[in-house]
Amino acid sequence: MPAHILVGTQWGDEGKGRIADWLASQADIVARYAGGDNAGHTVRVGDETYKLHLVPSGVLHPGVKCIMGAGMVINPLTLASELRALAAQRVDISPNRIQLSTRAHLITPVHRAIDAAREAQRGQRAIGTTMRGIGPAYVDRTAREGLRAGEMENPDIFARRMRARLEAGNQLLADVYQAEPVPLDSALAELCEAASFLAPYLGDSSLTINEALEADKTVICEGAQGTLLDIDHGGYPYVTSSSTIAGGALTGLGFGPRYVDRVIGVAKAFTTRVGSGPMPTELHDEAGARLRGTGANPWDEFGTTTGRPRRTGWLDGVMVRYAARINGLTELVITKMDVLSSFVDLKIAEAYQLNGQMVRHMPSELDDFAACEPVYETVPGWPEDITGVRTFDSLPGAARRYIERIEALVNVPVSLITVGPARDQSIQRR
Ligand code: IMP
Repeated sequence: MPAHILVGTQWGDEGKGRIADWLASQADIVARYAGGDNAGHTVRVGDETYKLHLVPSGVLHPGVKCIMGAGMVINPLTLASELRALAAQRVDISPNRIQLSTRAHLITPVHRAIDAAREAQRGQRAIGTTMRGIGPAYVDRTAREGLRAGEMENPDIFARRMRARLEAGNQLLADVYQAEPVPLDSALAELCEAASFLAPYLGDSSLTINEALEADKTVICEGAQGTLLDIDHGGYPYVTSSSTIAGGALTGLGFGPRYVDRVIGVAKAFTTRVGSGPMPTELHDEAGARLRGTGANPWDEFGTTTGRPRRTGWLDGVMVRYAARINGLTELVITKMDVLSSFVDLKIAEAYQLNGQMVRHMPSELDDFAACEPVYETVPGWPEDITGVRTFDSLPGAARRYIERIEALVNVPVSLITVGPARDQSIQRR
């Protein structure tokens, strides 16, 4: 009956999709619990590249059931085209293995337009959202005015209610933001087409998951974004609008904590961030550019969803320790270790300096967080290429010590290390 929860420990883009793909090979169900098509990752299997934004990574493992849970916000147009693209790549997308919770909320083109209008209005204080309409859709959910996926079951009712939501959103766009309305008839026609395509996928996913857990099946709860983007415990207001942390898996999928046996945190071996907001270990020098890469490789640090270059910096041990606390991590996965090869020295922030004081915990106030200066510990790098290494003992001594230092700082064991983009480029530790 185990549920394993997989979360990001930084600002997203830690490589969770790849780890979910790996865990899926031993699972029965992979379920996404929060967010929407603001997330994105690329999985390479052999010569084929798959781009996923909404469908859980388990879809690439035949026999694994994939669920999009109630905590998600779903753009029907994106989901329909993602499923069609997977089908074109000969992935089995039959409704008996893919389920969309009737309780998930829907994103409309009007939500996207409001997202853009709000960002424009924020000016200098813009969050740097992905413009996918995520925030406005969660606003409607909390205001109890949203449309849920279950509405797609009945085409006539769906068309009527969707029209009313689009009209109300257009009114808001005009009155509050003086922005262009979304063309109503064409948007509605597209949404209705997508709704009829998606209707067979609808189901009560809390029931599906609880029945599976009762039957001793293994469920992977796949988080999106990262702990620092969590609506409650992230760096508010520079966050996304959902519960990205382990607790969000329970509310977003509708099952209880007694089933959870592993909480796996994924941390990149350094730090990246897209969007605005403070980032204590950010680098603006040649080292930062080296961590980012040029964009020539698919694994370089450029957003999968928006293509934006990511901000880069040294590993922030204070942040990963915070993520260990907020999520109750039982283990850590360190990704992209190979990118650190050939730096002479590496730095890890072990604490912050705030107003002349040394602090070891993330401050809860944004102004304090913005004023934090990292206190670095410098550790030796390693010149060797480690992309071919498959056991911990064969790693260069400095790389082993880097991992052991993270374990000591965060007080959580590292169970897996990735050393390259391919499925087998990883070191399983325990
Ligand atoms: P939103 O989720 O589009 O509203 O964006 C809010 C913030 O979260 C922005 O800083 C985005 O860059 C960030 N964000 C959202 N999704 C992701 C993701 O999958 N990876 C990294 N950052 C993300």
